[in-house]
Amino acid sequence: MTTLRLKAMEDVPQAAEIIRQGGLVAFPTETVYGLGADALNREAVLKIFEAKGRPPTNPLIVHGASVEQLEPLVQSPGPLFYRILEQFAPGPVTLIVKKSDLVPDETTAGLDTVAVRIPSHRVAIGLIQSAGCAIAAPSANRSGFASPTTAQHVLDELDGLIDAVLDGGPCPVGIESTVVDISDGHLTILREGAITDEMLAEATGRSVTARQGSPRSPGTSGRHYSTKTPLILTEERPEALIDKVEELKSQTAAVIWPIDWPKTNAEHHVEWAEWKDDAGLAERLYAALREADALEVDWIVCPLPDGRGLRSAMRDRLLRAQTIR
Ligand code: TXA
Ligand code: MG
Repeated sequence: MTTLRLKAMEDVPQAAEIIRQGGLVAFPTETVYGLGADALNREAVLKIFEAKGRPPTNPLIVHGASVEQLEPLVQSPGPLFYRILEQFAPGPVTLIVKKSDLVPDETTAGLDTVAVRIPSHRVAIGLIQSAGCAIAAPSANRSGFASPTTAQHVLDELDGLIDAVLDGGPCPVGIESTVVDISDGHLTILREGAITDEMLAEATGRSVTARQGSPRSPGTSGRHYSTKTPLILTEERPEALIDKVEELKSQTAAVIWPIDWPKTNAEHHVEWAEWKDDAGLAERLYAALREADALEVDWIVCPLPDGRGLRSAMRDRLLRAQTIR
């Protein structure tokens, strides 16, 4: 199949028509690009799994344009559902709730819960509204690899496998939404993101648990977000980065480089952002990893952010990306 390159906003109606016809369209959200299909159309949803090479056990996030659009998909939405959406939606948070019978098993991988979110990107909202249906969308990458933050990233992996990509420029947040499970009446973070446990605790007056050892989010286990080139993570000090590159001796390396740090002896320095600029680091993280991967070096070397919020979310992604295959 030929993948159409569509431009936001002018081509939103064409993209919406493809979704209505049961096709696949990659589109920008504030976090990363998603690979969208009509969330209530079983055949359309199955095509997402095929195009991504995604295990059928890994459920999808359903994107709506409003609370009213999501309500019928949720079995008895409670105060937590409304409170969290009121506070953080549209925005980078996904809620796991008990699903209603409207949501097909294909979308939730057979679970009795469904993941829902309201993206804040105007292209995403425009597409959902124009299609007139909720849109199921995982990140628009081949399963196991880094999420795409530009339309070109999507094409690099999915050209010829999907109907269209709707180009709306780079994604401003750059890292996937926070996933919080409220299906049992407690708040449990399954995946860290820009909305932190503290923000959720403050908004709800409830305690928030972090995901424990055995993940309940099927897609957060094992290797993920990975580069083809092996990744070495260092402590968050310029000297640690410089020393690690020295240790590699004759092997080639690309450093994911905080632009306010001294350069190392590595062959390549891929610009990241200033080390204290959490939002800038998150926005560039996946693009920098992809650029480094394309350099075909022996190693990618990257300092590992420590701290809270986005830094903790980046740390989580980088540690998973490093998992030995
Ligand atoms: O920011 C985002 O969340 C992006 C954009 C496109 O919205 N989407 C995204 O989707 O990252 P995906 O499929 O790559 O990651 C969704 C995560 C997976 O780890 C999946 O296992 C988990 O959410 N998930 C989905 N439905 C779930 C459910 N019912 N119970 C537990 N985890 C669920
Ligand atoms: Mg993903």
